[in-house]
This record gives sequence, C-alpha cells and structure tokens, in this order.
Amino acid sequence: MSFLADLPDDPTARVETLRDALRRYGAEYYEQDAPTIPDSEYDQLAAELRRIEREHPELLTADSPTQLVGGAPSSLFSEVRHRVPMMSLDNAMDLDELREWGERTRRRLEDLGYDRLDGGDGVRYVCELKIDGLAMSIRYEDGRFVQAATRGDGRVGEDVTANIARVAGVPKRLAGTAPAVVEARGEIYMPLVVFEDLNGRQVAAGKARYANPRNTAAGSLRQKDPSVTGSRGLEFWCYQLGEVDAGPGATRIESHTDALAWLTELGLPTNPETRSFTDLDEVYAFCTHWIEHRHDLAYEIDGIVIKVDQLQLQRDLGVTSKAPRWAIAFKLPPEERTTLLRDIGVSIGRTGKATPFAILEPVVVSGSTVGMATLHNEDQVRVKDVRPGDTVIVRKAGDVIPEVVGPVLALRPDDSVEWVFPATCPCELAAPLVRTEGEAQHRCLHPDCPFQLWARLSHFASRGAMDIEGLGEKQVEKLIELGLLRDVADIYTFDLDVLLDQPGYQQRSIDNLRAAIETSKSRPLGNLLFGLNIVHLGAAGGQVLATALGSMDAIVDADVEQLAAIDGVGPVIAASVHAFFADEANRALIERLRSAGVNFTGPDRPDVPQNLVGMTIVVTGSLEGFTRDGVEAAIKDRGGKSPGSVSKKTTAVVVGADPGASKMSKAVELGVPVLDEAGFVHLLESGEIPVGEADHDG
Ligand code: IVH
Repeated sequence: MSFLADLPDDPTARVETLRDALRRYGAEYYEQDAPTIPDSEYDQLAAELRRIEREHPELLTADSPTQLVGGAPSSLFSEVRHRVPMMSLDNAMDLDELREWGERTRRRLEDLGYDRLDGGDGVRYVCELKIDGLAMSIRYEDGRFVQAATRGDGRVGEDVTANIARVAGVPKRLAGTAPAVVEARGEIYMPLVVFEDLNGRQVAAGKARYANPRNTAAGSLRQKDPSVTGSRGLEFWCYQLGEVDAGPGATRIESHTDALAWLTELGLPTNPETRSFTDLDEVYAFCTHWIEHRHDLAYEIDGIVIKVDQLQLQRDLGVTSKAPRWAIAFKLPPEERTTLLRDIGVSIGRTGKATPFAILEPVVVSGSTVGMATLHNEDQVRVKDVRPGDTVIVRKAGDVIPEVVGPVLALRPDDSVEWVFPATCPCELAAPLVRTEGEAQHRCLHPDCPFQLWARLSHFASRGAMDIEGLGEKQVEKLIELGLLRDVADIYTFDLDVLLDQPGYQQRSIDNLRAAIETSKSRPLGNLLFGLNIVHLGAAGGQVLATALGSMDAIVDADVEQLAAIDGVGPVIAASVHAFFADEANRALIERLRSAGVNFTGPDRPDVPQNLVGMTIVVTGSLEGFTRDGVEAAIKDRGGKSPGSVSKKTTAVVVGADPGASKMSKAVELGVPVLDEAGFVHLLESGEIPVGEADHDG
C-alpha cells in the first residue's frame, strides 16, 4: 500500500496522520468487526508511529493509539469492567527486535540486582503460540461459569456471557477443587476445518467466502442470537490468569508455568505446544521453528508470545501504560496484504479453459512476491465483487496459491465499473469464449488457438508428463514463433539444426535438446496419456488407464462402457477420453507419435492387487514392519495415494510410534478412521478399513 509512502515528512504532521488512520482502522477492527486493511498493514502503521514517538518523545501524547489497548466497547453488548486489566503486548516484528527485547530484559534484571541469569536458577522464558482469535476473559465463581467478556479497551470490555455460554469449547464447570473466583483469559478462535467447512457451504450457496478465521470468529461471537454463536464451532485456548481468589490454603502460584498447570487442572484447555527455556537462543529457535511450521497446526497463529516465567521477576520488570515489560509478541510474517488490482486478465489453458486472473501491483505476502492470482471463474469474480482499480486483500497461507480475498470497499474509486467476462479469446483469432450450461468455466474451442497450443506443448514437455529438459515454456514459445511446432507430434519430427542459425542457440544446447527429446520417447504410457491434454484426464488417470488396458491401442479402441468400468476412471473421464480418440485429427496425431517411436506400451500388470485405488492413506510415526519408503510403496503399489497431510479427502490415518500431533488431532477432528499397524496390514490385504476403527477416538 502506498499509505506509508504518501505520509507527510514533517514529524508532527506525520504523527497526526498516522494517529488518525490508526484510530479509524482500530475502530473498524475492534468495534465494528469490519477491518478494511489487513492486520499486517495496521502493525506497520503502528510501528512507524512508535518509531517517530521514540525518536521525538516530545510528540508523545497520552491519547496516542500506541498508548491505548484495543478499542472501546461497542454498544450492542453491556459493559464489563475488568478488575484486573487486560493488557496488550508489545510486538517484535523480526528476530532482531526479539533479540533486542531479550537483551533489554536481561539488562533490566541485572540492574535490579539479579545475577546468575543464565543456567539453572536464572530467568526462564515461557514460549506460547500466539493464537489468531479474540481475547476473552472467562469468569468462574465456585467452579461455575458466570461471565465472559471481551477485552474492549483493556479496562472495560463487552459482556458476551450469553454467547460464550453456547460455545462448547468453553467449560461451564471447573474440575477439581474450585476456587471462589478465577478468571481464565485466553483466545477464542475458529479451527481451520470449521472455517473451511463454513466457506464450503458459502460457496455452494453462491455466497462470498469469509475472509479469514479470525474475522469469522469475531463475527460469530458478535451475534444477537447466541445460538448462532453456538453453531459456529468456536474453541478456546487459555493462556493467562485474571482475577483470582483461590482461598486460604491454596497452592501458591509462583510462575506462569504454575498458572498454566493450575488452569489445566481446573479443566481449562491450555495449548500443548507451550515450552519453557532458560536460554534465549532456544527461544529464537522456537520462533524460527514456528515460522516454518505454522501450517502444521489446526488453527491459525500470528506469532509467538514469550513471557518471563517467574512471577517475582514479572513484578520487578513491571508494565508500561499498555503492555507488560515481561512479555513480547514475536510476529510471524503477515499472510495478508492489500494491493492495487490493476486489471483482470483471462488466461487460456491447455484444454481451452479460460480462467480470469488478477493482475496486481506486486506485493510481498508470506515472504514471496505476488503479482498475479487466479480468480477461478466468472462466478467467483462476481461473488468476490472485485473490479479493476480496487484495492484488494491478498492472502497466501502456507503453500496455498495466493488468493484475492476481496476488495476494500471503502477505497473503491467512484468511477469503478463491474468487470465483464470477455466475449472472445485474447489470442489473435479472437474465437468466442463459450460457457456451456452447467459449467462454471468458459472455454475457447478454436483448435488453432495459439495460446492453447503453447499451453498444450508446454504441458506435454513438462516434468509430470514427457519430461523433456530444455523444452520449457519460453523455449516452446520461441519454437512456435519460428513455426517449428504446430502440435505435440512435431516435437519428434522438426529439424533441430535450423536452430543453429538462430541467436541464442549453440551446437551443445541443440544436442542436449535432441537427446532429451529422444529420451522422452521411452517415458511410461501413463505420462504420455497425461501429456496429450485430454480434458479431465490427470496424471493419476493416465496411470490408471495405462495399467488397466496395457497399451495405447487398447485405450484408443475401448468404448465408453469399458473405460468407465475401470476403477478410478469415472464416467466423466471415460466420456472425455473416448471423445478424444474418436476425433480424426487426434487419431492422426497418435499415428505420428507411433511412427516417431514413442512408447505405446503400458507397465506390466503388478502382481499385487489394486485394492487401494481411490484411497488416500496418511501414515504418521514409525511402523515396526515397514520402513518409511516401504509404507509408501506398499500403498502406491496397490493404487492408493499417500500424501503428507490429513485432509477431508483422507480415507484413513495409520499411526505408528511417535506420531505427529497435528496429524492425529486433524484426523480426530475430521472423523477420519485411525488405524494401528495391524489395522493397516489388514487394509493392505483386503482393501477394507477394519471394522470398529472408524470411530476410534485417537
Ligand atoms: S498474553 C499480559 N498469550 O494477543 C499478557 N496473548 O497482542 C496478555 N494472544 O490480547 C496477553 N495468544 O488476544 C497472550 N498465548 C498468548 C496469546 C495472546 C494470542 C493475543 C491476545 C492479546 C494479543 C496481544
């Protein structure tokens, strides 16, 4: 965003502009639950304001947003005064800032007379995940849930008791010996599966997706009808004590670790990833670990919170007007940014599919620069209501392809107009783009469309298909331009020597390309089928066809019924494969590939039964009778898939010794059957999930 760049240089004016903006965005976020900028932009503006206030202490005022916590309570719910204020945290935006905090804290403690700060009796740091949800204070009296309140401005929050009363993840009765009063503070959040499920239903109903789990959790909480809140699958992690009246004789709590252990004893959910360290380097390593592994979790985090463990040290370090000095939030790189949507283009795929995509002012999201993002199809553009000229929120969570979440409506230009799907292909033939009844996609049906040709050839040569090294997208483009390639069979017949006269080619690169083309002739039949750009036929489908029918000729001659009867080939693929080979031009192409000497023979039928076709089996932990590679091979040899993570599509999760916690919890959450080694062996032999495993509770 250019907001920072457009700020006035004069510090006084700069500070005022920043404060106005932060107040406005803060109100949108905290009071209206309708942020128009991502959290990361807000953090950047706040960081800039703090920087100036540090450099010009004379400009600091008590009402600066940097000195206040959160927002004022909204008027929908009544007020709750927090007897123990709910503080916010200072942020460390990177490891350097975290180091500075660590060193500052250590120096402060030394000045206070603490020595031996390293080793056994020194300062301990508790590291917790910073859950991306909403802070909540939940009050229990004599072991009963009596009140729930949001943070509000830290002193006064909103009473959301009726809504939280419906949230199953928050205990209504405490376990063990209940104190007279205890306030459990923590984060209400929406697990990712719940969020995705909710969005699945939104899309199915033709409605816009929710932006992210945090906002959706906030919206779910702020419902007039508490039963709506109750239906949204919200959960709670508890990470701090508020007011406590434990009564005489209660065990003394001397550290944050003690507090967490007590909260757990009382039956409150505390996060299992919490660790404590005595060495700051271990703290940094913990943070680095979660930069990489944030997506292994079943919920979103936006940082790591580091707290000095000993309460005596906490008291000595004290607090500023806003945040404790004994804690810091290490922020993970943002996954959402705003940027300008310059235009919407349409790309033509290898099967003619016309996909709209966003052309963005490049922006760094989750550590990589994003300049383009798919918009999927006409309906998605309409539902998202994005228009060229809009400022849009771009999101990239984990390995997920970047996506445009939606426009920032407040920043929409007055003259903006709705985008209309183009009627014709963007190539020079400008053939009409057709949307068939019942399909979400438009397609260019022109057989000579150069965009399709380029995509088809690039796909044919790509690693997953014929794997022709040196024939990448750029190279394909050049060869098309030179008129050397008009279809995939031309790859095996064109005269490579004419390239010698072209700039940029040497004998060696030409020889290499020739050799790569030659090698590709013996690629497996499944790869060739995948490379032919048959609509709906993916890599797995190609493999299944090659294995089941054994040769190109058998596939070409098969009728639809025969094809559809193959395990793993549905009626849609069967019809499409059949139509492809019924086409005269395609048959001629096949003949040219045959004369070029391309392999048309499928793999020998494996002697293991293909009883896991269509199944996705995730293995976690080590098994006694299999090596890691052996397990995967056993699944794949039987036609199954064995990816590294659990999703809705997972058929079963096999659990060995030392399983990954996130895979286990995801399996349980999604209700995926969990098998032990014996159950797995049974599955390999019979192709069936052993009875009684389906409701294993993990
Ligand atoms: S401790 C005095 N611990 O982050 C300490 N906060 O930026 C108060 N948050 O308002 C907060 N996970 O909403 C703490 N493990 C964690 C947290 C956490 C998420 C949120 C919380 C807080 C905000 C501060």
